[in-house]
Order: sequence, then C-alpha cells, then structure tokens
Amino acid sequence: MNPVLIDFKDLSDYRGGLVSLEENKNIPFTIRRVYYLFGTDTDVRRGFHAHKTLKQVAVCVKGACTFLLDDGHSRSTTRLSSPHKGLYISNILWREMFDFTDDCVLMVLASEYYDESDYIREYDDFIEQVHA
Ligand code: TYD
Repeated sequence: MNPVLIDFKDLSDYRGGLVSLEENKNIPFTIRRVYYLFGTDTDVRRGFHAHKTLKQVAVCVKGACTFLLDDGHSRSTTRLSSPHKGLYISNILWREMFDFTDDCVLMVLASEYYDESDYIREYDDFIEQVHA
C-alpha cells in the first residue's frame, strides 16, 4: 500500500520554524482531539491496533519514528522525521510505531474523541473488518 503523506507549508523565516495546521484545510477532517507521544524508549513498539471510524494525521514534530501501516492486503513503512510532513491514517488501517529516537515527540491529530469501542485490537478482527 502507498502511505499518504501531507506536505505542510513551511512558514519558517530567519527567526525559526513555523507550521500551521487547520481542520478541513491541510488536515482532512474536523480535529476533535490532539495527543502526543514522547519519551518513548527506542526498543518499544506500540500501536498494534486499527480503528473502525477514527481518522488521524501523525506528525513527528521533533526527532523521528517509523510507522508500519497495513490495509489488510499489503504493508508500508514510513520514517517520519520532519515537522513539515503528516502521515494520514484512515480508518481500518492496522498501525505499529517503532524505532523512536530519544527526542521524538509524535503529535497525532484525531477526528474523534477518545473512544475505546472504536479500537480493533486483535489483528484477526482487523482482517475480518477488511473483508466485511
Ligand atoms: P493506546 O492507544 O493503546 O496507545 P498506542 O496505541 O499508541 O500504543 O493508548 C494507551 C492508553 O492511553 C490506553 O489506556 C488508552 C489511553 N488513551 C486515552 O485515554 N486517550 C487517548 O487519546 C489515547 C490515544 C489513549
């Protein structure tokens, strides 16, 4: 599968870096939640789930980490290492994140409030949803 990367306009100038994210503009949904992962150990692998309806955009605002995305047919891995790029993660996509750098701050913009019932946490259930 081909990962969908969104290029954010670079508003940086001689004073430093600046990127602006706006719902339904450069972020393709209404933003209901923002969360961020930081201080993740390099040998930690997390994620291991899909979502029934949730859409997300992941931005590595500092450092780097790798995303594995799986649509049930094929997989892709993407190294996120730029605050100017967002990885769009649609619903019904299995994701795993790993190889976090010590300084990694991974910010995620989400289309819905946190809802545990939206998670698909078993890979077999995910494959069942793909073929539903
Ligand atoms: P989880 O989504 O399982 O982490 P990851 O998939 O990145 O490994 O979330 C870890 C815990 O935090 C879990 O108990 C749910 C909780 N959580 C919230 O309460 N709100 C949130 O927005 C998120 C993302 C997680």
